Amino acid sequence: MNKLIDPHGRSIHKLRLSLLDACNFRCLYCMPEKVEFMPSDKFMDKFEIFNVTKTLVDYGIDEIRLTGGEPALRTDFLEIVKLLSKLPLKKLGLTSNGVRLKKFLPDLKKSNLLNINFSLDSLNRKTFKTISRSDSLEQVLESIFLAKELGFNVKINTVVMKGLNDHEIEDFIEFSGKYGIEVRFLEVMKIGVMVPMFERYFISADQLMAQIKTKWIPKTIPVPVDSTSYNYTISNGAKIGFIASESKPFCHGCSRLRMGPDGSIFPCLMIDKGFSLRGKNREEIGEALIKTMGLKPTYRIDEMVKPMYQIGG
Ligand code: 5AD
Ligand code: SF4
Repeated sequence: MNKLIDPHGRSIHKLRLSLLDACNFRCLYCMPEKVEFMPSDKFMDKFEIFNVTKTLVDYGIDEIRLTGGEPALRTDFLEIVKLLSKLPLKKLGLTSNGVRLKKFLPDLKKSNLLNINFSLDSLNRKTFKTISRSDSLEQVLESIFLAKELGFNVKINTVVMKGLNDHEIEDFIEFSGKYGIEVRFLEVMKIGVMVPMFERYFISADQLMAQIKTKWIPKTIPVPVDSTSYNYTISNGAKIGFIASESKPFCHGCSRLRMGPDGSIFPCLMIDKGFSLRGKNREEIGEALIKTMGLKPTYRIDEMVKPMYQIGG
């Protein structure tokens, strides 16, 4: 197997694969209320996805996480997962808002997709609705509990915003301890719709940690060098993490590439220059990978106007 090493010596072995940009939520920090999505005839079909990812795996990708938009909105979502399950991956994962996921879970359990990160920004119905603009907390929780019961490796991603849900940190810690589900607090990123609202809503991981330390004593859990999160256990049994992409960027250890629904590959969430891998042969894909890795930054780019759902969250 080839190894993908970028010009700065970083080993590139993870792929974020966005299956579509559409979503049934309109999270405040992600999308405006009215939004135009990529027409579905531009999407790679399931076989194109399989063939391209198979070549990427030959070149050294060993982890794939499906993202969107909301990946479960693809009509061929399960079939894509079944095809990707044939690849020799160390890890196949999914990031989902959970609303439409419940019905897929028993079938997913038979696939190799065993890692599910649910986006859940509030445990309170009203706040959940304010942030996601969707009144579906109950359905999301049902999916999360069923996934846990079926034995998936479940994590919760919570984007923390000042004045909106930062008062819920303790509730999330209680939730994590009670149900044995890891919760990761994400700093909101200066990207897309957040660029003009960033100062208003940003709260740093350090500020949250200070808040947590007034009540708990977090214990550090060691993480691999390319980890994007700082992880801790809490005495009530909770496992928490911080993804501090604004205050403590992890670009130095970044091991990822991103691919959009139309087969364009991107070096970084913060760079919208992509190369299309669609219809390309093995050699051409290899060349595009070298060009893409060459564009991976080593420092954190300050802001990105192009929204995250178009590159893959
Ligand atoms: N800042 C931080 N996280 C974001 N996401 C989307 N937009 C932003 C942003 N501006 C996250 C979602 C979800 C994943 C798909 O991307 O919360 O966890
Ligand atoms: Fe959808 Fe995720 Fe964006 Fe929310 S953050 S609108 S769930 S893609």
